[in-house]
Amino acid sequence: MEKKILYSAVQPSGNLTIGNYAGAIRNWVQLQNENDCFYAIANMHAITVRQEPAELRRHTLELAALYIACGIDPEKCALYVQSQVPQHAELMWVLNTITYVGEMNRMTQFKDKSQKHADNINMGLMDYPVLMAADILLYQADLVPVGHDQKQHVEIARDIAIRFNNRYGETFRVPEPLIMKSGAKIASLQEPTKKMSKSDENINACIYMSDDKDTVIRKFKRAVTDSDNEIRISDEKPGITNLLTIYATFTGKTVEEAEKEFAGKGYGDFKLAVGEAVADALAPIQAEQKKLLADKTYLTGVLASGAERAYKAARKTLSKVYRKVGFYQGE
Ligand code: TRP
Repeated sequence: MEKKILYSAVQPSGNLTIGNYAGAIRNWVQLQNENDCFYAIANMHAITVRQEPAELRRHTLELAALYIACGIDPEKCALYVQSQVPQHAELMWVLNTITYVGEMNRMTQFKDKSQKHADNINMGLMDYPVLMAADILLYQADLVPVGHDQKQHVEIARDIAIRFNNRYGETFRVPEPLIMKSGAKIASLQEPTKKMSKSDENINACIYMSDDKDTVIRKFKRAVTDSDNEIRISDEKPGITNLLTIYATFTGKTVEEAEKEFAGKGYGDFKLAVGEAVADALAPIQAEQKKLLADKTYLTGVLASGAERAYKAARKTLSKVYRKVGFYQGE
């Protein structure tokens, strides 16, 4: 069977949490074995909100190193930085001309971010979904693994692809979203009915991929549970269920196995065990990330060859697009 082309990207905002790990990174690692994967670090999307330039650059490298440390194999997939492949911006321009202001105005994330950054509602923020469509369509992706919050963006990318194909003839493959299973959804340690979010103001609510052992254990000790003392999976026990999910995620066990393991134990011991399991899983990843970041030559090389692979695929699609729309391309 022919391999599917898979495209995904992540913004280089610092401080990824174990929720990002369970919901995205881990899936990317699995998917790289059966598919032809393009994984980008979306720094062009990142500047639609204000960024400190030095930090953006640092976060870009840290994220690349983290992904490799987590098991992304740069031999298997094209891991690259979005701004290093100029076709993203070029295709976006063409797609802009078949996208309507009205439909961008109605996008959920645009509305949310306009509220959150009311002093900086820039054109890029509104154009964000078109850049994302360009990302995906450039590679003729079949599948786009994303979290639920990005589903509307993939749908718009499909609409844009179909519209372009209708107007100019068959050009783009129409991608499907691959919504990551909710099984491994990790909740806030402080409000376990809410998703764990890296922008949470309460630092005890999330475990960062960069947290050291003491910090991890301390945060789990403070995790909100409930007033009875039974360790079991239940909708009425979101705190305990979340801790069981986290434990299962980081030990490779099922939640049911985790539940059995802790049956009859006290909350204190349980929280400590979860904390230790997470800290023990993070330690080798952190060590590997540090090692990679110290070897700038290697990292730069990996990203350059990733960009080269992406560039080859992107150039092919863009040239086809330019031909279809009637752009002069020399002889
Ligand atoms: N907008 C995505 C996010 O914030 C990141 C992203 C950019 C993306 N381009 C993409 C995801 C293309 C999938 C496909 O999570």
